[in-house]
Amino acid sequence: MATLSIFLPLILLIFLPVSISQTSSNNARDCNGVFITYDYTSGFPIPPNVLASDSNNQAYNFRSTLTILNNSPDELKSWRVFVGFQHREFLVSASHAVLADGATLPGDVGNVTVFAGFPITDLKSAVQTAGDVNQMQARIELVGTQYGVASPAAPLPSSISLANDGFLCPPSTSQGNSTQVCCLKDSSAKSNTATYEEIQPRQGGDLTIMFDVTSSSESNYWAKVTISNNNHTSRLDNWRLSWEWMRDEFIYSMKGAYPTIVDTGDCIFGKQGEYYKGMDFSKALNCDKRPTIIDLPLDKTNDTTLGMVPFCCRNGTILPPFMDASKSKSAFVMQVYKMSPDLNISAIHPPQNWKINGTYSPGYICGPPVRVSPSLFPNPAGLSSDTAAVASWQVICNISSSTFKKTKCCVSFSAFFNNSVVPCNTCACGCNASPSNMCSATEPVLLLPPEALLVPFDNRTEMAKEFNRRRDLPNPLPCGDNCGVSINWHLLSDFTGGWTARVTLFNWGDTDIVDWFAAVQLDKAIKGFEKGYSFNGTIMPDTNNTIFIQGFSGLNYLLAERRGDNPRKDPPVPGTQQSVISFTKKTTPGVDVGGGDGFPSKVYFNGEECSLPVILPSGSNRKVPLASSAFSLLLIMPVLMVLQLSL
Ligand SMILES: *[C@@H]1O[C@H](CO)[C@@H](O)[C@H](O)[C@H]1NC(C)=O
Ligand SMILES: *[C@@H]1O[C@H](CO)[C@@H](O)[C@H](O)[C@H]1NC(C)=O
Ligand SMILES: *[C@@H]1O[C@H](CO)[C@@H](O)[C@H](O)[C@H]1NC(C)=O
Ligand SMILES: *[C@@H]1O[C@H](CO)[C@@H](O)[C@H](O)[C@H]1NC(C)=O
Ligand SMILES: *[C@@H]1O[C@H](CO)[C@@H](O)[C@H](O)[C@H]1NC(C)=O
Ligand SMILES: *[C@@H]1O[C@H](CO)[C@@H](O)[C@H](O)[C@H]1NC(C)=O
Ligand SMILES: *[C@@H]1O[C@H](CO)[C@@H](O)[C@H](O)[C@H]1NC(C)=O
Ligand SMILES: *[C@@H]1O[C@H](CO)[C@@H](O)[C@H](O)[C@H]1NC(C)=O
Ligand SMILES: *[C@@H]1O[C@H](CO)[C@@H](O)[C@H](O)[C@H]1NC(C)=O
Ligand SMILES: *[C@@H]1O[C@H](CO)[C@@H](O)[C@H](O)[C@H]1NC(C)=O
Ligand SMILES: *[C@@H]1O[C@H](CO)[C@@H](O)[C@H](O)[C@H]1NC(C)=O
Ligand SMILES: *[C@@H]1O[C@H](CO)[C@@H](O)[C@H](O)[C@H]1NC(C)=O
Repeated sequence: MATLSIFLPLILLIFLPVSISQTSSNNARDCNGVFITYDYTSGFPIPPNVLASDSNNQAYNFRSTLTILNNSPDELKSWRVFVGFQHREFLVSASHAVLADGATLPGDVGNVTVFAGFPITDLKSAVQTAGDVNQMQARIELVGTQYGVASPAAPLPSSISLANDGFLCPPSTSQGNSTQVCCLKDSSAKSNTATYEEIQPRQGGDLTIMFDVTSSSESNYWAKVTISNNNHTSRLDNWRLSWEWMRDEFIYSMKGAYPTIVDTGDCIFGKQGEYYKGMDFSKALNCDKRPTIIDLPLDKTNDTTLGMVPFCCRNGTILPPFMDASKSKSAFVMQVYKMSPDLNISAIHPPQNWKINGTYSPGYICGPPVRVSPSLFPNPAGLSSDTAAVASWQVICNISSSTFKKTKCCVSFSAFFNNSVVPCNTCACGCNASPSNMCSATEPVLLLPPEALLVPFDNRTEMAKEFNRRRDLPNPLPCGDNCGVSINWHLLSDFTGGWTARVTLFNWGDTDIVDWFAAVQLDKAIKGFEKGYSFNGTIMPDTNNTIFIQGFSGLNYLLAERRGDNPRKDPPVPGTQQSVISFTKKTTPGVDVGGGDGFPSKVYFNGEECSLPVILPSGSNRKVPLASSAFSLLLIMPVLMVLQLSL
């Protein structure tokens, strides 16, 4: 008994440190999850040499190794590792990996960098490989430039972690020239049933691109690329898609779309020409490492050599699915030739670093292709069975708020109880910053008389001066909004049982806008929405605070600006469309229409968020008696039909 009581503390003493060091260990063997290390190996100063006082701006070469070791019980699919670079790193090369956001190297890696495996995207588990470390780990050799960290100090990232869902990573720990972290499966996360399969579940995102290989032979394969828009407020016009071939592939033929450049020079003089000696390269399409693909015009839909692909040939237009599901996709097929060592029927590597953009579209950031379950296509022979793709990959592209382009539309507010229009902000869609400008980019906007909305900004000056004559006007006057499209939201009436608004669209651009749409977010008042009269208005099902407005079929054109009837006297005239929208108050008692509930809180036109005025029209007499409003509605409707415009 006595000996035991003496030994017990001793035993505890022996075991305690061991168990502590196991939980916070820096040793791969003690990590039962995914062990990531970042080792700085070498570096040296590179020109230009800067003064010692400016040592923060001295550039250095660095070489590091990023190692991802899968010690977890399951295979790690599509690994993605976050590296928090912090010394203005410029990465020149990374072996066996690509940047997950699709950016190319060499490139700035700033402080938000996620690597994904390439060409091997998955790390097997020890159980699957009898502990073969080569299949369980990925070693990424990094070469780049960093600023300000001289030897013997090591330019380590601020943190590293596994970016895959379902893992928890403690803060990474640094020691000497190395940073490490052990990320464990998050037991509270939903277990992923697909872990042991080759396949990842399909994911959602704003835009999905499927890369389906439909047939494969040793030297080449056919792939079908399908771009689908899943976001109800965005569209693409004249889409341009590009990717990077990683294994010297080239495009031999294509249907449903076309590369911007037909050029096979790189093949003829490169190793492709050497290998495919018998091939007629004058029939091949494109040998660029990063080809750019554009859609074909509508009239090629039934062309037997270029078209005849379902969902092809839409002149690059992809609409929101809510507007027309059949026009929310674009597809094309292509024949791709491979090079050694991939001359094997099963060796298919999808291209990487996908990018897509379009004229009206926001900026998209695309992830790496992820292997998913094979897509099913209707049987071409018309049989009832479906044909499965040989292999399918999915690329998710999400709208990135940071790459959101400058807005192109402007909303003005007006109301029956106020004789002025509140325009959107000065320079809402950008301004020429040159000091020689005759206008001020910072002055708040001037209120306008309603008729001023019908003339181009340049011709409003006199009207605005006259309208604001009782005020001290700034000199120079505020600049215009410079938007291509403006939308006037006019509160037309507000009576006991309901209210109405009149929406007018103006196109100041020089091209017709086909298949236009607008999404109007009205927070409190939305439940009372009844109908649009000259526009097709519908409540968007998955948001329930947004009205989706589009032209009725045949009236979905917003014409371009045209010259006035008498060009010498009259200024140009915008293309316009107008409709009244009615609301009931039965479902929204207490709604304060004139006080703000009757004005939208967000407006999108053709997928672009519009600039809204910062103040609302105000007035003392914000209610119209029922009789007079009903009368005015009756009066206005026929007038609208005849006149299209009655501001
Ligand atoms: C990098 O981090 C700094 C400080 O945290 C931040 O100000 C900067 O915007 C970040 N850069 C990028 C590209 O995210
Ligand atoms: C870190 O790397 C530098 C440069 O290679 C070297 O001089 C230094 O001794 C290394 N430090 C440790 C702790 O390994
Ligand atoms: C895109 O957005 C969806 C949901 O909005 C998200 O689940 C997905 O992880 C995002 N994908 C990427 C690559 O950012
Ligand atoms: C669509 O994109 C917008 C940004 O343009 C975003 O705010 C919205 O959440 C997206 N909606 C859906 C359903 O993905
Ligand atoms: C996206 O737009 C930019 C500028 O308009 C253009 O230079 C670039 O090539 C476009 N990207 C693609 C994939 O076409
Ligand atoms: C192509 O053919 C289909 C079916 O015959 C027809 O409905 C469609 O209008 C044609 N399209 C064009 C652009 O000629
Ligand atoms: C197709 O797009 C081009 C380029 O924007 C445009 O000039 C042309 O008018 C469009 N054609 C049709 C039929 O819409
Ligand atoms: C109005 O738009 C909705 C949603 O896009 C559509 O389902 C409906 O058919 C359209 N109605 C008419 C009359 O065009
Ligand atoms: C083709 O590739 C598969 C998997 O990579 C391999 O098992 C097979 O041996 C290869 N076949 C030939 C003929 O090289
Ligand atoms: C409208 O403004 C433009 C540009 O300032 C000017 O050239 C034109 O004469 C003006 N037209 C009228 C009718 O005032
Ligand atoms: C839509 O409305 C329902 C019921 O009013 C509400 O529960 C739901 O959260 C709303 N959805 C959105 C996306 O606002
Ligand atoms: C109209 O509304 C504007 C903006 O709120 C306000 O400055 C102006 O005084 C109002 N005019 C009248 C006549 O109430």
